Amino acid sequence: MKHQLKIMIGGGMVLLSLLSGCTKTETARKAESADADIWPTLTRAIEKSPAVEKRIDDLLAQMTTEEKVGQLIQPELRHITPEDIRKYHVGGVLNGGGSFPGENKYAKPADWVALADAFYNASMDDSDGRTAIPIIWGTDAVHGHNNVIGATVFPHNIALGAMGDPALVRKIGAVTAREIAVTGVDWSFAPTLAVVRDDRWGRTYESYSENPQLVKAYGGAMVEGLQGRAGTDDFLAADHVIAAAKHFIADGGTYGGVDRGDANISERELSDIHAPGYFSAIEAGVQTVMASFNSWQGKKLHGHEYLLTDVLKKKLGFDGFVVGDWSGHEFVPGCTKVSCPQAINAGLDMFMAPDANWKELYANTLQQVNAGTISQARLDDAVARILRVKIRAGLLEKGAPSTREFVGDAEHLGAPAHRAIAREAVQKSLVLLKNKNQLLPLNPNQNILVAGDGADNIGKQSGGWTISWQGTGNSNSDFPGGKSIYQGIAEQVNAAGGTVTLSESGNYKSKPDVAIVVFGEDPYAEMQGDAKNLAYSDAQNLQLLKKLRADGIPVVSLFITGRPLWVNRELNASDAFVVVWHPGSQGEGVADVILKTADNKINLDFSGKLSFSWPATPLQSPLNMGDENYQPLFAYGYGLTYQDVDSQDVDSLSDELSEEAASVIAETDAVRKVFDNRPLEPWQLVITDARNNASVVTGSSATLDTITLRAVDRHVQEDSRRAQWNGSGAGKLEFVAQQRSDLSSYFDAQGAMVFDVKVDAKPTQDVHLGMSCGQDCLAEKSISQLLANTVPDEWKTLSISLQCFTFDRLKTDMVLSPFYMRTDGNLDLTLHNIRIEKNTIANVQCN
Ligand code: BGC
Ligand code: BGC
Repeated sequence: MKHQLKIMIGGGMVLLSLLSGCTKTETARKAESADADIWPTLTRAIEKSPAVEKRIDDLLAQMTTEEKVGQLIQPELRHITPEDIRKYHVGGVLNGGGSFPGENKYAKPADWVALADAFYNASMDDSDGRTAIPIIWGTDAVHGHNNVIGATVFPHNIALGAMGDPALVRKIGAVTAREIAVTGVDWSFAPTLAVVRDDRWGRTYESYSENPQLVKAYGGAMVEGLQGRAGTDDFLAADHVIAAAKHFIADGGTYGGVDRGDANISERELSDIHAPGYFSAIEAGVQTVMASFNSWQGKKLHGHEYLLTDVLKKKLGFDGFVVGDWSGHEFVPGCTKVSCPQAINAGLDMFMAPDANWKELYANTLQQVNAGTISQARLDDAVARILRVKIRAGLLEKGAPSTREFVGDAEHLGAPAHRAIAREAVQKSLVLLKNKNQLLPLNPNQNILVAGDGADNIGKQSGGWTISWQGTGNSNSDFPGGKSIYQGIAEQVNAAGGTVTLSESGNYKSKPDVAIVVFGEDPYAEMQGDAKNLAYSDAQNLQLLKKLRADGIPVVSLFITGRPLWVNRELNASDAFVVVWHPGSQGEGVADVILKTADNKINLDFSGKLSFSWPATPLQSPLNMGDENYQPLFAYGYGLTYQDVDSQDVDSLSDELSEEAASVIAETDAVRKVFDNRPLEPWQLVITDARNNASVVTGSSATLDTITLRAVDRHVQEDSRRAQWNGSGAGKLEFVAQQRSDLSSYFDAQGAMVFDVKVDAKPTQDVHLGMSCGQDCLAEKSISQLLANTVPDEWKTLSISLQCFTFDRLKTDMVLSPFYMRTDGNLDLTLHNIRIEKNTIANVQCN
């Protein structure tokens, strides 16, 4: 395998600095001042101006402490009204992933604008004699304006990394900003500047690269695209928005790739590896920085005075404001959701306070200022920073959102010109890993079979942070103007006179000349996407690849993924293998490269190169260029073109698991998770009422006549489900799949069904817990007594031996639902972490 250790950036060759020797013991830090040998002095495109500073001082002089504290609070859409904004002088508001005006997924741009106007007008209402300060609204537009139906959805950052094209990144930022402007929103929580070092992290796809220099080349470009070029009239003009560099700092450097974990690395490594993206973002004039959930050397960033104040603000000269991340302050020792002077004192300027109780946070912070726990000077500095950004963005002059240029002009949302840029990004981001006998590019004028569960599925190809938070629950009709990978292929094949058949399972009547199989990771986002190892396992599609080849059909694999994964088995079973990442709404960009023109010429060649090293084993993580013993399967920078003759013996990559890998995977196998923060594949959560109406719960709540279900927080957001039966008839909650699962090995190995439960209202009638394999193919156990014995408001782990489900008619190798609960009476309980475990001493036995 050739190791390409160079990457083209903006036409120039950037040599990779090999980052070894980072383990040098840290030199003692001088308190109060950043280590000048480690942190650079930056040249910033925008500096403080006397005129702006004068305005800030004038405003501060008019504001009461109450008004100032209000500026520090950023509640979430679901828990705030215009009246609250008026009353508390709230400084900011956000909509989280999958949160929309009126909680309506199909809210129109006009609905967004109307709400933005209502918020703005409330913030400008000075009838109580107070100072009018316009509110700012932030959203996660992390790959296009991805919370809004009809917006252009760009490939995720990992794909952009493969393009090596900062100029295109700048354009993507600019058109994304314009689409955000259409909805009256002022601010995007982007770009993510994580330099992900352990690809097991579920946010790897939000990272441009493991290479800090590439992240640096992109960071400034994306900020310029979103905000406009600082120092020109374009800066924060009508079709630009405020950017947020996130998550400061070392979110991609946590041990084990654990979300919100600890980066136990030296300060030198912090600066050399995790900070370069911030250097270019600050130089380009980024106006906000989001503090990270993670810790550095055991200390949470939200409370890290040295990093937030001494390094970021003083040494790097960042003069905008630092916003928190989703109640991230609550994890600072001594803090709670509703009280955290430590964070403000450390340098946080605006609390992201998405929960219903943000008013308590307001009241406590006010009290802490009055008591001197937070100094007046620190309060004034935080407010000054927020005002500076609002003034620079022109918000004090722009008027109500609906009166601004571009706002409400729905034709800009998903405009053809924007989609063309997304399509170009897709073309440039595809990485060709294998091309045996130069199978690709394909002549479109032949009989082509398109198969796999990713072929005609825009939700799957778009990944997490797409309309919903985790990217789940979307269908093709949620992407007007978008195209699936299959649709793009079909158009071009039909136009060239070929024939194309779509069959997810790969069935065909007349033998195709070639098969394209699209498969890969299902959508996920933060926390829920963390993995224990890098093995991709998908027995069904692997089987399909093998079967097609056995039928004598050459196979092209298109792999949808948010990170490099161990796919040796799939590589061996394919003739050509393309990593398509998460291309987003313009799936036709894939056909542009893999198909020839109608007259059988190369249309576009592959130019994408890996911006992350590709593993040779499932346990090879962390794996990064510059590692001492660097032995990836495909090195950083790898990617074939049509000029390359792929002469390697590519069908015989080792696909045996080492003993260690096999045991790690077996360990993972010892637990079959049914619900872990969300229903796990292949199961979906469904509720059913007495009249047999059923609802698949894809959003965060669902209600039927007899039962209501909603996502609630235990440790982290939406990690549990609360079910309430109202006693008016039968109601059932179940995890169920279309396909059968063989759970017999769990029954053989002393298995148990294990889950955590908290009972808020005890059952009034019998409650049955069951497993089923279809109608009349089930086993149930009554658990009313177990539930009745719980202590109110206390979590309890129940483990029920699978012996309790062996009688009756259950076929344990054909399970459709591994867990359901039903009752006719009243019941209110919350479930967390449902799984089937091997070798467990269950606390409920049945023999
Ligand atoms: C919310 C999302 C939000 C996410 C942030 C979830 O509980 O539903 O809107 O973006 O938390 O972590
Ligand atoms: C994520 C951020 C995001 C925020 C708001 C957090 O949980 O970490 O990236 O900006 O939620 O949705």
